[in-house]
Amino acid sequence: MVKNIQAIRGMNDYFPEETAFWQRVEWILKDVLTRYSYNEIRLPIVERTSLFQRAIGEITDVVEKEMYTFINRNGDSLTLRPEGTAGCVRAGIERGFLYNQEQRFWYLGPMFRYERPQKGRYRQFYQIGAEVFGQQGPDVDAELILLTARWWRTLGIQDYVTLELNSIGSLEARARYCKALIAFFCQNKEFLDKDCLRRMYINPMRIFDTKNPNIQALLNEAPVLTDYLDDDSQAHFSDLCELLNLAGISYKINPRLIRGLDYYNRTVFEWVTMYLGSQGTICGGGRYDSLVEQLGGFATPAVGFAMGLERLILLVKAVNPNFATIACVDVYLVVRGSSIKHEAFQLAEQLRDALPSLRLMTNYGNDSFKKQFRRANKHGARIVLVLGESEVSAGQLIMKDLVTGNQEMLAKSDITARLASILD
Ligand code: HAM
Repeated sequence: MVKNIQAIRGMNDYFPEETAFWQRVEWILKDVLTRYSYNEIRLPIVERTSLFQRAIGEITDVVEKEMYTFINRNGDSLTLRPEGTAGCVRAGIERGFLYNQEQRFWYLGPMFRYERPQKGRYRQFYQIGAEVFGQQGPDVDAELILLTARWWRTLGIQDYVTLELNSIGSLEARARYCKALIAFFCQNKEFLDKDCLRRMYINPMRIFDTKNPNIQALLNEAPVLTDYLDDDSQAHFSDLCELLNLAGISYKINPRLIRGLDYYNRTVFEWVTMYLGSQGTICGGGRYDSLVEQLGGFATPAVGFAMGLERLILLVKAVNPNFATIACVDVYLVVRGSSIKHEAFQLAEQLRDALPSLRLMTNYGNDSFKKQFRRANKHGARIVLVLGESEVSAGQLIMKDLVTGNQEMLAKSDITARLASILD
């Protein structure tokens, strides 16, 4: 027997019961983004590897361990995007969208990371993200957080998520902090593993990304970045906190929150939930005021976030399993006799023209009357229309309401109005 070909581990198929959920959730997310005047951008899934190396940082888990990288036929090194910010900045610089302008973008699409798959963590996952360019004040940081808070309220999960907030300061503040970190790690070298020892001098903050529980315990004793913050970043952070207080948004300041990508400065935040086990970060983001310049553009302040749709949908489903259901058929057209299949085909199209919101399914093939009715029920049809040779020659149709059980014979010319009155 021929062996089945299976999906790649960590890459999911989604069938209609799932996609019904996704569609409803996505519709709500996009609607809120539009209400805050964010516009969609669509960017390539594949970018040059060097883009992610430079933007995310060479010594990060994403770049070192998780990228899907391959050599193109022309010898270039390309990578399936592990996140959306780098591509967005690349496109903004390349198309001249960032210079001296304010931009508010959102995007939605698949991202790829070679991580160990588990609930809420996949190798292909979807992110919806927003990026704002050209605004340096904390008000836009606050707006992004308010936007996400509005998502939670609209989706009914506001009681299941909490906001963690921190400031990681300026590049200079971080350089001072890194010196202190290196000194601390030097004193505790014997507790570090090979990976951390390697990162110690090149990018000591990335030791915080370790999954090694012994080292995690040591990190609780490490110097805290907050103690090294510069005055401007401190002022920015307290303004942000004040705006959130004004808006009634609760948050927890987490001095240990630094995020796993190198491009951040000042504000960083994460929305977390306790209801998804270890993959509880639903959404994360922050400021990245140096990235545009670092990738070759003019200095442009920027801030954004991204949310994992799988995690969000897991949570929405856990809170409200009936949040979305698969769309049922309104009308099922039962066709009696193969000689009238062309008439049935035409009738279905005429009904779709006349009633644009009608969800109609036609039976194809020569199934028995009973089987066709069974199918109508399976698809949740409200109404069955029966078309046979005698009905065609009389210019009529049988209409059966599966909810009330009523059955009537209708002139073909009356069918549209009758359906409209029942389905309204
Ligand atoms: P990130 O924290 O790497 O940030 O990812 C954002 C979100 O994507 C996470 O909070 C999580 O919900 C989801 N996510 C990440 N990895 C996986 C995975 N393997 N499986 C399922 N979901 C996952 C970024 O990507 C930044 N680009 C966010 C940003 C935008 N910062 C500024 N602008």
